[in-house]
Amino acid sequence: MSSPYLTLTVVELTQETSDAVTIHFERPDRQPVACQPGQFLTLILPCGPGGKKERRAYSLSSTPGEAPRLAVTIKRVTGGLVSNYLLDTVQVGQQLEVMAPLGNFVLAPQPQAARSIVLVGAGSGITPLMSMLKAILSDEPKSHVLLIYGNRNEDSVIFADQLRQLEQQYAGRFQIEHVFSQPLRPSAEHKHTGRLNRTTLLRILEQRHQFPAAQAEYFLCGPDGLMLEAQSALELLGVPAARVRRESFVAAADSAEAAAQSGGHGDVSAAADDEQSSSRNVTIHYEGAEYQFQVSPEQTILEAALDQDIDLPYSCQAGLCTACRGKCLSGKVHLDEREGLSDSEMNQGYILTCVGHPLTSDVVIEIG
Ligand SMILES: Cc1cc2nc3c(=O)[nH]c(=O)nc-3n(C[C@H](O)[C@H](O)[C@H](O)COP(=O)(O)OP(=O)(O)OC[C@H]3O[C@@H](n4cnc5c(N)ncnc54)[C@H](O)[C@@H]3O)c2cc1C
Ligand code: FES
Repeated sequence: MSSPYLTLTVVELTQETSDAVTIHFERPDRQPVACQPGQFLTLILPCGPGGKKERRAYSLSSTPGEAPRLAVTIKRVTGGLVSNYLLDTVQVGQQLEVMAPLGNFVLAPQPQAARSIVLVGAGSGITPLMSMLKAILSDEPKSHVLLIYGNRNEDSVIFADQLRQLEQQYAGRFQIEHVFSQPLRPSAEHKHTGRLNRTTLLRILEQRHQFPAAQAEYFLCGPDGLMLEAQSALELLGVPAARVRRESFVAAADSAEAAAQSGGHGDVSAAADDEQSSSRNVTIHYEGAEYQFQVSPEQTILEAALDQDIDLPYSCQAGLCTACRGKCLSGKVHLDEREGLSDSEMNQGYILTCVGHPLTSDVVIEIG
């Protein structure tokens, strides 16, 4: 298996808004990097205490069609370690260590398909949707895309110029509905004022007859509140859950529903405290090697592996991105968070090592 790590050179920077910048990369040898629309790069930066390397996931805002270039778009988070470090220090010509593109929130174009695709995003949640949008418009000529995009005001719209150009270039196939919570100017056609909530979404979707609600495919990316509102609107419209895909950038504050179990049976929440109270042995198969180590009750499986200098793949460390995904072949694992895993993955025994705790001493996990 090829190394999951790459070195990329920053070849251009684009200031998108006052607090968001697109970083364009290429490999030093200008070879393309395999990726799918909607996947993310993991940037690895020495900005932690004492120069410790920190990792963060950033969705590709570029599409495979833009190879050999790749781009990520980073929005400053108040008080955030990596976003501020990057936006304050990144320069053209700099080389950055990254983990190759990963992620299951993907929309691969099917050139013969004639689909209605609805993208719903807010703020920096536009990034994976932008990648999907460009890919569908260029490579799936019979499909239509509606983008519903929430922002504070006109000046906080990331990719404003590019979106305007795409709307003109693909008139009839691509439409945008902007929703501004605090608009600077009186609203024009297809601009909505207020929060991007269930009511606004229902109003927009019910007017859009070329996007028959139950038959469209939906891709959601934004704050947790927006995604809950969107899911509720789509349920009311009778959209089957299988037609809705979502990605979160931030772990949900309320992770009560996230407690889950994989690789075994039974009620994990009741048993978890007792079952997690002692150290457990875990075996991991990764890239042809077998690793065995102890996981103490306060550690995740990933933390215990990293303490032993076992170089397992990871990115967000919050159960969101699936970079650390593995399949539990035996034993029981408790997950603190399962946002990144679908029901079908859970049923197949997939777990996330960054939020996983062994409940039994016979846990065997296969990664890759
Ligand atoms: C799959 C995936 C894709 C992502 N893609 C992008 C992307 O394309 N562009 C982008 O800018 N970010 C993206 N993120 C978020 C990114 O990985 C970082 O979490 C973000 O840049 C904050 O990191 P930080 O080190 O600056 O903040 P930290 O120091 O990690 O956090 C500081 C505080 O900010 C909160 N916080 C973290 N992220 C956010 C956020 N996005 N909004 C509001 N509060 C937050 C944290 O809970 C914490 O309280 C993505 C995350 C995931 C999991
Ligand atoms: S590292 Fe992102 S889900 Fe585990």
